Amino acid sequence: MCGIFGCILREGQAVKLINDGLKRLEYRGYDSTGVAIINNNQMEVRKDKGRIEEVITSLRILDMPGKIGVGHTRWATHGAPAMENAHPHTDESDSIAVIHNGVIENYLELKDEMIEKGHIFKSRTDTEVLAHLLEEEMKTDIGLQGAMLRVLRRIKGSYAFVVLSTYEPDKIYCARNESPLVLGVSENGTFCASDVPALLPYTNQVNYLRNGEMAVLSLEGYKIVKISDGSEVERPTQEITWSPEMAEKQGYTHYMLKEIHEQPTSLRNGLRLQERYLELLTQFLDRGKEVFLVAAGTSFHSCLAGSYLFSKLARLTTFPVVSSEFMERYGSTVGIDSIILTVSQSGETYDTLKAIDHARMRASTVLGVTNTVGSTLTRVARAYLIQQSGPEIGVAATKTFTSQVMVLSQMALKLAKTRGKLSQDELDEYDQKLHMIPDWVEETITKNEERIKQLAEENMNEELFVFLGRGISSATALEGRLKLLEITYVPSLAYPAGESKHGPISIIEEGVTCVFVCPRGETHSHIIGSIMEMKSRGAKILSICEEGDEDIKRLSDKVVEMPKGIPEELSPIVYITPLQLFAYHLAVLKGLDPDMPRNLAKSVTVP
Ligand code: G6P
Repeated sequence: MCGIFGCILREGQAVKLINDGLKRLEYRGYDSTGVAIINNNQMEVRKDKGRIEEVITSLRILDMPGKIGVGHTRWATHGAPAMENAHPHTDESDSIAVIHNGVIENYLELKDEMIEKGHIFKSRTDTEVLAHLLEEEMKTDIGLQGAMLRVLRRIKGSYAFVVLSTYEPDKIYCARNESPLVLGVSENGTFCASDVPALLPYTNQVNYLRNGEMAVLSLEGYKIVKISDGSEVERPTQEITWSPEMAEKQGYTHYMLKEIHEQPTSLRNGLRLQERYLELLTQFLDRGKEVFLVAAGTSFHSCLAGSYLFSKLARLTTFPVVSSEFMERYGSTVGIDSIILTVSQSGETYDTLKAIDHARMRASTVLGVTNTVGSTLTRVARAYLIQQSGPEIGVAATKTFTSQVMVLSQMALKLAKTRGKLSQDELDEYDQKLHMIPDWVEETITKNEERIKQLAEENMNEELFVFLGRGISSATALEGRLKLLEITYVPSLAYPAGESKHGPISIIEEGVTCVFVCPRGETHSHIIGSIMEMKSRGAKILSICEEGDEDIKRLSDKVVEMPKGIPEELSPIVYITPLQLFAYHLAVLKGLDPDMPRNLAKSVTVP
């Protein structure tokens, strides 16, 4: 996720508005900042690693004259935070500047093609390829609009692009596929931005660019065209009635709720892993004598789900362990043949980094999955994958959990292929289902949110919750419990359902709420037994089950119904969403702030 702001003004200095706009978008990313301005037909770009305030001051950006410009605040996805990787990226003649939010899937092949044609790249980003492709097209007499359309038709992936060029120094071109871009017009000019808060000081009449559309901005306003055939699109503007504070959260009352709702998008991005690195990581996993999955908090629950995925799909035994226990438990046995796969949203968790230090000292191979390019984890791991969730502000992890399990699922499938453990038909089917997950998550949230809110109201005064699941759903149950604990402070337990009779069952009495996670699959018949055990002791049963699952519905007091056809192995990614929403709504009903739970921190960088 990155922040984009562009403007064309009648009066005033573009950089002043770009500075304000980027500050309102800083929540979208903040590792590097850059602007491009055109003044007297000359383009000037200033950019560097660092937060907006720092870069604006150190590069004296507010001194840049000019009435047309674009700016970017970056959240790295390809290439570490560094001056050369900061946006805008330019072509070789510095006549085209490109800003981008998203991930270009086919950039390596396009980059190779451009290199063969003699282009020299200055950065390690996926974005820069667009500047070179445009430069190449501009060698013909097709014009900038034609060049944009031709190039956009070749790009695969997610993007909001903004292009400034001395070829047409009074226009801004932009385009969208899956990454947001909003357009607006005021008396003083025309604007584009990643999000409404940046536009609100100038106008509350906006037009959301849609997937597959390009817009040409000028002082006269904007023209929207379809990328596929270049035809013009007419669409009335929309009035925004949010307060500036609400607008920052896109109308949601809390970041946590916004992030829960963002999951269909973050999961779509999580499917765009770089093949080369996916391959590399799985090769290491395959070669290791033993594989440890090391993480803390929610990331540990992703590892737990990962251990079932590696075992069931790739027939690989892995040892999930919380980072703070790694040294005591395995520190004296890990060695040169051990693989330590660490998972950390921030890439900075103290205990996880400590485990990595130790593993490196013992000559083990350290691999990583993280959300943060340039974090310590990315610097010390032999190879890593970026989970592509975008920044998460709510302290309780939501979208980063589902993205991590999405990445681990893809690793397990790739490994299953390498090791020959699944047939091609099975691989194809899993792959197809994996690509359906973002839609399933969307459907789950849309269909169930009201019902879950109502369930939260009904359970508002409960003093204890017990979360149970079998197999991979025990990871879902643990993560559902963690959400509830983190933000509602209601005491709760989570257990593998089969183990619950070895202790937890003693606390079950009339009216205690047991939350069962019961996808269809191998564990289904066993979970029915566990439900009966709890029900016969007076527990109230709230089940998350597949739509039309009459066996579970008959035994449950309340159910949340999930879309049909989700394979059990991939179920945590979808089945966790009602539990995230349940915790969220319960916290709000209790008058608590789910974004800032007491005593917790987003990133724990101390022992
Ligand atoms: C803290 C956060 C959790 C997070 C955990 C691990 O406890 O509150 O949300 O899961 O740290 O963080 P990491 O960045 O390593 O995933």
